[in-house]
Amino acid sequence: MSAATTAPFLSVEKLSASFADRTGQLSVLRNLSFSVPRGQFVCVLGPSGAGKSTLLRLLAGLLPTNAGRILFAGEPVRGPQAGVGLVFQDANLMPWRSALDNVALPLELRNNPDAIDRAWDMLQLVGLQGFELALPSELSGGMAQRVAIGRALVQDPQLLLLDEPFGSLDALTREKMGEELLRIWELEHKTVVMVTHDINEALYLADRVLVLGKRPASIKLDMPVKLARPRTPQLRYSPAFGRMAARLRAAIE
Ligand SMILES: Nc1ncnc2c1ncn2[C@@H]1O[C@H](COP(=O)(O)OP(=O)(O)OP(=O)(O)O)[C@@H](O)[C@H]1O
Ligand SMILES: [Mg+2]
Repeated sequence: MSAATTAPFLSVEKLSASFADRTGQLSVLRNLSFSVPRGQFVCVLGPSGAGKSTLLRLLAGLLPTNAGRILFAGEPVRGPQAGVGLVFQDANLMPWRSALDNVALPLELRNNPDAIDRAWDMLQLVGLQGFELALPSELSGGMAQRVAIGRALVQDPQLLLLDEPFGSLDALTREKMGEELLRIWELEHKTVVMVTHDINEALYLADRVLVLGKRPASIKLDMPVKLARPRTPQLRYSPAFGRMAARLRAAIE
């Protein structure tokens, strides 16, 4: 294999981040290093305020790095990039645009003549057939989040960054959305970094879970999740799943 194919797809090297606050500098991330191979599904867990969202915003190029560096496909991240799709806790849809027009927007902004066709196909992929012309006010929380995921995927990103995308949903809808996300991931083979505070969700979805410690956070645990795929709901009740959940819980506390 050549160096190009063995190089990590995403690499974070000695990354630190701090913010100016009332008392001076608030150190949030300290000396964080990890790398992610192409196609891996990584979940990030950690206590509230540890710096998970900060990490994701750094990976997305929405925040400048103070120290250390982030390489995406071998290139330093210096700002938002086309190959990266983002989904936050809030769907943040444009209320006057239909589901279809919301998903088409990123393509329209680039004058893509196939914007509507591609957005239509994307809505089928995220399970919203029949709701193409619905306005956001006519969608449930889970459906709005599907639109947000569709909007991120329609640009065919190589890297999908998700910050508690199901955080505002009830437990059952959340599990269903997890299943949907896995189905899409198995079809599309994106590299995913997803922040969640739900241990079971992280285990069910990921190939690997990173746990951030208290602020200023570094990586407290980097745990591979060696559970067979496709994952099935019964897996949540297996002894291996329970053992890993206990290990993650101990690392977070
Ligand atoms: N733009 C900013 N300016 C100043 N401080 C910030 C900024 N963004 C985040 N912080 C601070 O950095 C710390 C980490 O915030 P961050 O949102 O990354 O945490 P988190 O791990 O995502 O927490 P949660 O699980 O509650 O979402 C917090 O103390 C927060 O107050
Ligand atoms: Mg957060």
